[in-house]
Amino acid sequence: MTTDRKVAFEESVSIVVFGASGDLASKKTFPALFALFSKGLLPKKTRIYGYARSEMSKEEFSKKQTSHIKSADEQADKIKEFTSLSTYVRGGYDDDKDFRQLNSVIEEGEKNMPEKNRLFYLALPPSQFADVGEHIKKECYLKEDEGRIRVIIEKPFGRDLKSSRELQAQLSPIFSEVELYRIDHYLGKEVVKNLMKVRFLNTVMMSFWDNRFISNVSIVFKEPFGTEKRGGYFDDVGIIRDVMQNHLVQVLCLLTMSRPVSTSPEDIRDEKVKVLRAVRPVDAKDIILGQYVAAEVNGEKKPGYKDDDTIENKDTKTPTFAAIPLYIENDRWDGVPFVLKAGKALNEAKVEIVMQFKPVPGALRDHIPPNELIFRIQPDEAILLKMNTKYPGLNDKLVVDDLDISYRDSFPKVAIPEAYESLILDCLKGDHSNFVRDDELDEAWKIFTPILERIDAGDVKVHDYKYGSEGPEVMKEFMQSKGFIDD
Ligand code: NDP
Ligand code: BG6
Repeated sequence: MTTDRKVAFEESVSIVVFGASGDLASKKTFPALFALFSKGLLPKKTRIYGYARSEMSKEEFSKKQTSHIKSADEQADKIKEFTSLSTYVRGGYDDDKDFRQLNSVIEEGEKNMPEKNRLFYLALPPSQFADVGEHIKKECYLKEDEGRIRVIIEKPFGRDLKSSRELQAQLSPIFSEVELYRIDHYLGKEVVKNLMKVRFLNTVMMSFWDNRFISNVSIVFKEPFGTEKRGGYFDDVGIIRDVMQNHLVQVLCLLTMSRPVSTSPEDIRDEKVKVLRAVRPVDAKDIILGQYVAAEVNGEKKPGYKDDDTIENKDTKTPTFAAIPLYIENDRWDGVPFVLKAGKALNEAKVEIVMQFKPVPGALRDHIPPNELIFRIQPDEAILLKMNTKYPGLNDKLVVDDLDISYRDSFPKVAIPEAYESLILDCLKGDHSNFVRDDELDEAWKIFTPILERIDAGDVKVHDYKYGSEGPEVMKEFMQSKGFIDD
């Protein structure tokens, strides 16, 4: 548990990115820092340090920092300013001397800063977190009267309840919960950030948000590509650990929690934990797993999961698709299935929440489709309410149309920020609301660990599905069994 301390780094900050030579740093962390810099949202005096074991010249580091910045040519001057604030420090992750050297470089940069604040971003495999944490504490830490420390860490936070607790046990003696920011980038996505606003600031929404009106809910993650050479990583993880236990569960929490007593990070996270604790254990007989197989998509032959060269075990049963219904046993949601559905190599790129309403009387007889409230998280962010309405004219025809907030039309001048940009800014403001607390993580693992153990033991059937399809064929029947009406 933490106490609330929303204190912004306003005047100055030193940001250290560990693992600066890596994929995440160059694709997400540095572009997000650049976007904040170019919008004037970093503190006036900011210094950025990249740290890793690889040898890199200043030029190579600048290239690493900027190679994934969009429309780089149009922003050449800003990019030059950004890289001039940045320094690369080469060093190991368990070497006192290297961390002392890093500390002295940071101290040099702090000489003209009005306040000392340090943000350490661990863009590293979790195996390195404990060593790096200990060395930060030993060599680069600030005493309370000197300034503030914040540490961002990246998923995976373990692979089950036990390993997650082990990781936590390594980190908690080093950093307090106030200092730690566990990132789940889905919490930085614009529509996800809007869920609390839409739910709690609109009386109309509050009036139907429960099991009296809602029949079933799907939280859907679809990617149109396979593991594409990431199979080595993925085969040990599977789709449930990769996107469901974290990203989709975070969305579920914001969708179903009760109104927090305030918007303070701790009150919000308390409500999320309550929902997770109310989730009934998952029944292994009631889930669908799948693995994609080779197929032809638009005339092009696409490989199956096992065809990925980076996968060693050619008999692998790792699921690349899963549909898991969760039931929240509280007054508000009892009896409503929340189907978390995620898959790679499907027919489209889409992440959305579909809340299907109970049918009106006589709906089945008269073929009246149920209303649906849809939060489209990506692509083309939107909130849509599917309504039955009379087709205009001299007829009695019924059509389904949308009450529609499409972000592109409603806010045409706004460029939707990247999730990482939004979350790094939250961290600089000292706002933990959109970061995962230790007890939240624990509860999420409690839900999934028993079922993951059954899956890892090979106790749950894995259906084949074709690359580019909608998933295993049994899904249609499965969704119907959850009350979903496909019109
Ligand atoms: P990388 O494998 O690219 O690792 C980052 C850097 O860490 C490497 O450049 C390397 O730097 C160092 N490193 C890698 N392996 C080891 C090791 N075994 N021991 C010591 N140092 C090592 O990882 P990513 O950048 O892809 O990811 C970083 C973290 O972010 C991970 O926890 C990952 O799960 C998470 N993540 C990544 C995403 C992505 O899109 N890439 C998305 C979501 C989360 P050097 O050798 O120069 O020191
Ligand atoms: C990551 C997963 O956490 O999220 C990837 O490891 C997945 O497998 C990615 O592709 C999806 O993120 P986004 O932002 O592209 O939807």
